Amino acid sequence: MKFFLDSANLNEIEEIASFGLLDGVTTNPSLVAKENGQKNFKTIIKKICKIAKGPVSAEVISTDYKGMIKEGEELAKIDKNVVIKLPMTKNGIKATSYFAKKKIPVNVTLIFSCSQALLAAKAGAAYVSPFVGRLDDISSNGMSLISDLSEVFLNYGFITEILVASIRNPIHIVESAKLGADVATLPYSVIMQLFNHPLTDIGIEKFLKDWNNK
Ligand code: G3P
Repeated sequence: MKFFLDSANLNEIEEIASFGLLDGVTTNPSLVAKENGQKNFKTIIKKICKIAKGPVSAEVISTDYKGMIKEGEELAKIDKNVVIKLPMTKNGIKATSYFAKKKIPVNVTLIFSCSQALLAAKAGAAYVSPFVGRLDDISSNGMSLISDLSEVFLNYGFITEILVASIRNPIHIVESAKLGADVATLPYSVIMQLFNHPLTDIGIEKFLKDWNNK
């Protein structure tokens, strides 16, 4: 399973890369705005690409087809690792087909149903981003969407990767891994949670205590 960091914060990206755990990065307009990056969006993406050395999703702001193509083409020029992130709309799917024909990878975002993911895969998306946490938030079941997608993509041999997004806790990651999801995009705080187990801390403390008593 590949680990992407869901962040536009350069310090966080550098830290996760330093562990050797970073396979890629996903950003979205909210994450870029959190870093006050609206005006220097392209510079931020360029810097992220330098650190990440793997796929970096950069999302378009346009909602019309022509605007998506123009923005996407500009973003694709930033670095060979840029993945154009497009929303799951009619225009987004049309633009996905356009970029897929040009062999430019697309991540279709804001996926909340199996039917939406099927459209994105058929249009040639490199990744689909199902938002598990936001489904859980409305008392739906995010993980059952991942299970459905795994089954459907396997049935037809789609090469589109399932990129689990809107992850809120370690259980989302473990469940996604059990279901064979290709990628999990994790907020920094959740990656940090993955390290922890109280028995590890107790174990280290005991080993050191025993060592020093001898
Ligand atoms: O990047 C898309 C997704 O991961 C957003 O997550 O927590 O805003 O629902 P969240």
